[in-house]
Amino acid sequence: MVLQNSALLQTQSFINNKWVAARSGKTFKVLNPANGAVVANVAECTEAETEAAIKAASKAFVLWRKKTAKERGALMRKWYELVMANADDLALLMTTEQGKPVAEAKGEIVYGASFIEWFAEEARRIYGEVIPTPLNDRRIITVRQPIGVVGAITPWNFPVSMITRKISPAIAAGCTVVIKPASQTPLSALALAWLAAEAGIPEGVINVITSTDAAGIGQMLTSHPLVMKISFTGSTKIGKLLMQQSASTVKKVSLELGGNAPLIVFNDADTDVAVKGTIASKYRNAGQTCVCANRIFVQEKIYNSFIKKYRNAVKALKVGDGTEAGVQIGPLIDEDAVKKVNRLLKDAVKRGADITVGGEGHGLGKLFFQPTVIEDCTRKMTVFSEEIFGPVSAIYKFTTDEEAIDLANDTEYGLAAYFFTQNLNRTWHVAEALDYGIVGINEGIVSHAEAPFGGMKESGIGREGSRHGIEEYVEVKYLCMGGL
Ligand code: SIN
Repeated sequence: MVLQNSALLQTQSFINNKWVAARSGKTFKVLNPANGAVVANVAECTEAETEAAIKAASKAFVLWRKKTAKERGALMRKWYELVMANADDLALLMTTEQGKPVAEAKGEIVYGASFIEWFAEEARRIYGEVIPTPLNDRRIITVRQPIGVVGAITPWNFPVSMITRKISPAIAAGCTVVIKPASQTPLSALALAWLAAEAGIPEGVINVITSTDAAGIGQMLTSHPLVMKISFTGSTKIGKLLMQQSASTVKKVSLELGGNAPLIVFNDADTDVAVKGTIASKYRNAGQTCVCANRIFVQEKIYNSFIKKYRNAVKALKVGDGTEAGVQIGPLIDEDAVKKVNRLLKDAVKRGADITVGGEGHGLGKLFFQPTVIEDCTRKMTVFSEEIFGPVSAIYKFTTDEEAIDLANDTEYGLAAYFFTQNLNRTWHVAEALDYGIVGINEGIVSHAEAPFGGMKESGIGREGSRHGIEEYVEVKYLCMGGL
């Protein structure tokens, strides 16, 4: 990997705008999932460095919150511009540690930067209110104030945008942050932090702790009295644990957790739009997103025309090392991910599913998997209830709208859902009946800084992005002025 701006490749934790090695001197390896090569040896930090970062963030909070919203927004705008100016390097860095094709990685850099830009602007719109008084001798006013130090725990599947989606609203509001990025993808996080410092964001406002000890760092962030808020993206299992741990000091939590997205193709859908939208939703990041179509329900009458085109579209997807031109599907993140896909496929086939495209590992290497289609899926299969997180389309046939809605809502998850139809009545009926925080209608990609991203049920708490995103990082304070 040769970067034009070599300063973007950093390997130590970032505390108080300084690079910090682990006190133990230990490091861990970051591997390129496409070929297993060691990309970097990164500081293996512990609770001690995390506590130093929390203290730095707490000290910085005193001054950062006093800056005007306009001042904070202006610094964030500079950060946004630096991220965009370094987008090619950041994309290459991301592909090298995460595996997604470089064009997709560049798309993520632009998506990630859009949160910085959006919240730089939103900083000036954190309004309070004047509430009509019930008594003439007093007035009721609210102000919104930054909550304090935020602990942000972020995943490997979106190494940049899941960080900016959390920390941009936080710092726009006047909070300071300690980020624990996934140990598979710390390099993108460190590059982002360095660019923030270059933009002039003061010391202690953004801190990054690198470590493979997710449990230890998570415990420290969720139990430390100086941390006021936890924001996490990852599995429902870990989200529940962090929520439990945060209870001891009654921290505010935002959780963006697992999904089991239904995607429904109704008889009256435009087949080409449905195929394009399903491919976009299912195969983004090789199927490794929380909003990937996990269960694809196709109505009887459109089934044959849809599936013929869909199989061809899946067969045409180009698999390979993400740095090679034209590649659309990179490797999975690690061997556990490949094992999970194989386990789900085995179970589905045992219970009657038919593999019609792909179905096994790819000759390119042990983390590559063939884009796969399995048909005749049923509720009894594990693939119906578990998030696949791989390039496998599980297809189910259905007859009535009621059946589709029942199938779609039959899960403890409620993050994203999609459906394809050209009928207006059906559009409203189905959109309102789906128990999901996000619904894509004739569209497979729904992620925008301007829109509220988040789930219902066990998919999480809170919304990220949009004007709602900033609410997660402020306290509403009520001022009662009496004696008037
Ligand atoms: C996720 O998979 O967690 C995030 C996907 C997105 O922001 O589009």
